[in-house]
Amino acid sequence: MNPSSFLIQIPFFPEQASNFAFEVDLFYLFLTALTGFFTILIGAAGLYFLIKYRRRSKGEVPEQIEGHLQLEIAWTLIPFAISMFIFAWGAKLYYQMYTDPKDALEIFITGKQWMWRAQHSDGQREINELHVPLGRRVKLTMTSEDVIHSYYIPAFRTKTDVVPGRYTTSWFTPTKAGEYHLFCAEYCGTQHSGMIGKVFVMDYPDYQAWLRGVPRDKSPAEAGKQFFTSLACNNCHLDGNTGRGPSLHEIFGKDVKLANGSTVKVDETYLRESILNPGAKIVGGYANDMPTFQGLVTEEQVAMIIQYIKSIGPGQGEAATAPRPAAAAPSTATPASPVAPAAQPAGRPASPKPAAPQGEQPKQN
Ligand code: CUA
Repeated sequence: MNPSSFLIQIPFFPEQASNFAFEVDLFYLFLTALTGFFTILIGAAGLYFLIKYRRRSKGEVPEQIEGHLQLEIAWTLIPFAISMFIFAWGAKLYYQMYTDPKDALEIFITGKQWMWRAQHSDGQREINELHVPLGRRVKLTMTSEDVIHSYYIPAFRTKTDVVPGRYTTSWFTPTKAGEYHLFCAEYCGTQHSGMIGKVFVMDYPDYQAWLRGVPRDKSPAEAGKQFFTSLACNNCHLDGNTGRGPSLHEIFGKDVKLANGSTVKVDETYLRESILNPGAKIVGGYANDMPTFQGLVTEEQVAMIIQYIKSIGPGQGEAATAPRPAAAAPSTATPASPVAPAAQPAGRPASPKPAAPQGEQPKQN
């Protein structure tokens, strides 16, 4: 249900321009009203008792009052019920905001001292601006190249930390066309206050026209494929699990058995970790002999490689129904048993420089 028909626009508040804005405001107003109510109630009672039970004569001994069970139960249960209501409402809202929606338009965001880069799924890039279509779900996948930033769009009532070393996501459905503020909401250095931008909500046809008008790089998946080759990933990650590394065909979203017997779901975070710290979670049946690519690829390049891995379809020779060969068979003891994390990669590929293919390096400005 979109409650935008009951929009209440409070003075001094930012516009309500996303699916979350109304309910976040309502919740906030509720908390404010509740706090105000109890502040007045307690203040007034205090004042009243102050006067009513004042000392009337020197040496007056007040009447001793013992407990009052009903009163004590009431002032325990009523605040308990109120706080549980706040918890339930807040949790529900939080759950909605931080559960990734299906079929959302995906945009990749990188924070960096002191700018916001965005890349759309067809390869369009923008800096300190974000163009999104009206009425469509938009999901942001975000990371930072240096310190913690926070992607804050007040008009959407969404704010999500952007953290180096991991991916965070945020989503919204813009409900009102227009131009809105974008802020960094986490102190990140001297130019923090300048790490600002604009969000443009456009009608879908306008958005499409905008996309067409932006000089387009390769899509992230296409660019990722180039990195995949130039970094020689394809030398080991062969189709059909015949190489030194596991096949990457259709692995995204699946569970994979690790050498230590546990299972991990292949998502962005796991893939990123496996690129930058390959020894952390070794797939069962494989040795810990992949070198790290830490420092050789930027966060944006990692994201592109992940987009490529997401896009790889079924391998040849791997019929959809056929059981997965060797690597997926967890029962057998791992062949290379000393998979100690200490086992440093002996044969690093000869300096896998991120040989940026034709201007694919993200603009450094
Ligand atoms: Cu980035 Cu503050």
